[in-house]
Amino acid sequence: MSDYIGTATACANSNIAFCKYWGNRDATLRLPVNGSISMNLEGLFTRTTVRFQPSLALDEVVINGRETTGKGLERVVRILDIVRQAAGMDVRAEVISENNFPTGAGIASSAAAFAALALAATRAAGLAWDEAQISRLARLGSGSAARSVPGGFVEWQMGTGDEDSFAVSIAPPDHWALADCIAIVSEGHKATGSTEGHALAPTSPLQSARVADAPRRLEICRRAILERDFFALASIIELDSDMMHAVMMTSQPPLFYWQPATLAVMQAVRRWREDGLQVAYTVDAGPNVHVICPQREMGEVAHLLQQVSGVKRVLCATVGGPARLV
Ligand code: PMV
Repeated sequence: MSDYIGTATACANSNIAFCKYWGNRDATLRLPVNGSISMNLEGLFTRTTVRFQPSLALDEVVINGRETTGKGLERVVRILDIVRQAAGMDVRAEVISENNFPTGAGIASSAAAFAALALAATRAAGLAWDEAQISRLARLGSGSAARSVPGGFVEWQMGTGDEDSFAVSIAPPDHWALADCIAIVSEGHKATGSTEGHALAPTSPLQSARVADAPRRLEICRRAILERDFFALASIIELDSDMMHAVMMTSQPPLFYWQPATLAVMQAVRRWREDGLQVAYTVDAGPNVHVICPQREMGEVAHLLQQVSGVKRVLCATVGGPARLV
């Protein structure tokens, strides 16, 4: 199979975690210390083409038009190596990947990227892997990428090991017409990436309490989604996000992802909810605030967010489908 040539293109949506993943019990295998639940974001996607070519001496990775080297390249090569081994071939690949949203600002670009890579690479190598296998492979690139493989509302089970730590859909995209209005406070690259952040999580004295309480939060969140109970969802996602940021802020060294405008948006969201609007916030490893609301409120929420001082722009997404070949 040394003259193997195969190509495939896949698209995967980003996702926003409602119950978050922060900390690994095995960093190499990216086995999380707790399960997590998310919603895929329609239209905030990565499109990746993988082309195995015998003429290449090394893997080549181009992300948003720029050749990737160093750690970024190593992460992609690791996935390609697993795929080559499974397919019994040793051909290098060209990987071309494009995001349609800002990279490195808490919009989980790595989630969409590794989900699309896992699907495109396995297909290009001629492997017909099922969703769980592709989710496991995506997990090795970025934990949250496991959740961008299935569609709609998704749960990543922490599992007992590599074999059973993958994500499954708990409800399809049309189950609940929610939206995510992302208040962009900064488009810059975050100072500390999540790979380093996960490693710092156990240094916070609050992490053990956060992890011990995770099954309870996951249960409430899962039920709120299945019952389409917005106010139950609102209180659990805000608690979960605040708990993760409390861990981040108290790790050593501490990680502060919030900016003044982040807090301003969070406070405004709470005020609007007290006034009867269905809105809730959640913040990933960056300063931008994801404001979850029913799709019918999306226009009004985006308009309100634009008025908050420090908000540069608002990106809106509805509930997205699974990673797919194009
Ligand atoms: O998949 P990673 O390693 O980029 O980690 C994602 C971490 C958070 O976005 C902060 C939480 C989550 O569950 O998506």
